[in-house]
Amino acid sequence: MIKSKITGVGYYVPKKTVTNDDLSKVLTTNNDWIIERTGVQERRYADVEGGEKNYEMAVKASEDAIAMAGMTAEDIDLIVYATLSSEYVFPGSGVLLQRSMGFRNIAAIDVRAQCSGFVYGISIADQFIKTGMYKNVLVVGSEIHSTGLDFSDHGRHITVIFGDGAGAAVLTAYEGESGILSTHLHSQGQFAEELACIDPGFSKKERFTPDMVEPGGGFFPVMNGQLVFKNAVVRFSEVINEALSHNNMTAKDIDMLIPHQANLRISQFIQQKFGLRDDQVHNTIQKYGNTTAASIPITLCEAYKEGKIKDGDIVCLAAFGSGFTWASALIRW
Ligand code: COA
Repeated sequence: MIKSKITGVGYYVPKKTVTNDDLSKVLTTNNDWIIERTGVQERRYADVEGGEKNYEMAVKASEDAIAMAGMTAEDIDLIVYATLSSEYVFPGSGVLLQRSMGFRNIAAIDVRAQCSGFVYGISIADQFIKTGMYKNVLVVGSEIHSTGLDFSDHGRHITVIFGDGAGAAVLTAYEGESGILSTHLHSQGQFAEELACIDPGFSKKERFTPDMVEPGGGFFPVMNGQLVFKNAVVRFSEVINEALSHNNMTAKDIDMLIPHQANLRISQFIQQKFGLRDDQVHNTIQKYGNTTAASIPITLCEAYKEGKIKDGDIVCLAAFGSGFTWASALIRW
């Protein structure tokens, strides 16, 4: 049976590092609060003044992933691009990536599943590969949050968490033991507004009003932090268990868990719950913050490059975020 194997991974983070002390200069916050509640020590911000763009970060991550797979852009049959921070309202960033790297006129699908976007993308890629329609699919997650955050005290509980970056993976048709074993995707729109950026929506008579750009206005993300936290720990656990039971496995079979980097406390809770050692869970939120759709591919790639993932390992990707959406992918590397 045809499976999808991850044959290449890559990531890119912008050069500019913003520490918690840097944020303390513009927000009423402090290093201790941020570290204790979120685990974030620093994050990267894209050089938007210098013209750096979401899709350009994706290009850098994709170049590495495609090179590791031993391919060129011409070998790729489909782009799946997960982001909540695209350049334009439309078109999506997928087509901007398509025109920038020498791809053929292949389809580019943009995925709007926020923090679950990369795992949703992996699942979409996997379905196209398993049906035989495509052989090589590029899945990307890329975000520029730094231009959309509320740097007033109103938004400080959100602003301190998020950072910019991009990650990518190439999935290739493969017949053998390795590959994606299963994916499980969920959503619960009941909580859509609990972690959201509301404006500029199309369903309003006035799409733009001056108050939207004031602190607390609809241009900035809102987050009910405690509700998000409580749902995250439940849904992460559920969707990892769903992946394990679907494959007749238990937590003892997991060699490496790559959780979406929502918050270090959430990752640590999940690690404890599944009885995993420190070397079985890789986290990057300390250095890069929460990069939404990019967090899993960045963390997966770093774990791989550090030699923490070996052929045959069982790797579990798990995500939760705005929507709410949540998802998992179980992989035999
Ligand atoms: N620095 C200092 N103080 C801050 C602050 C900041 N950046 N942000 C909020 N505070 C203050 C609040 O004003 C509040 O003060 P008060 O007690 O005087 O009213 C206090 O800290 C507690 O605020 P609260 O929002 O209740 O904190 P919390 O313990 O819930 O922690 C989060 C906030 C966001 C860290 C936490 O809710 C969380 O981690 N949620 C999950 C978020 C997440 O994972 N999001 C990504 C999902 S993909």
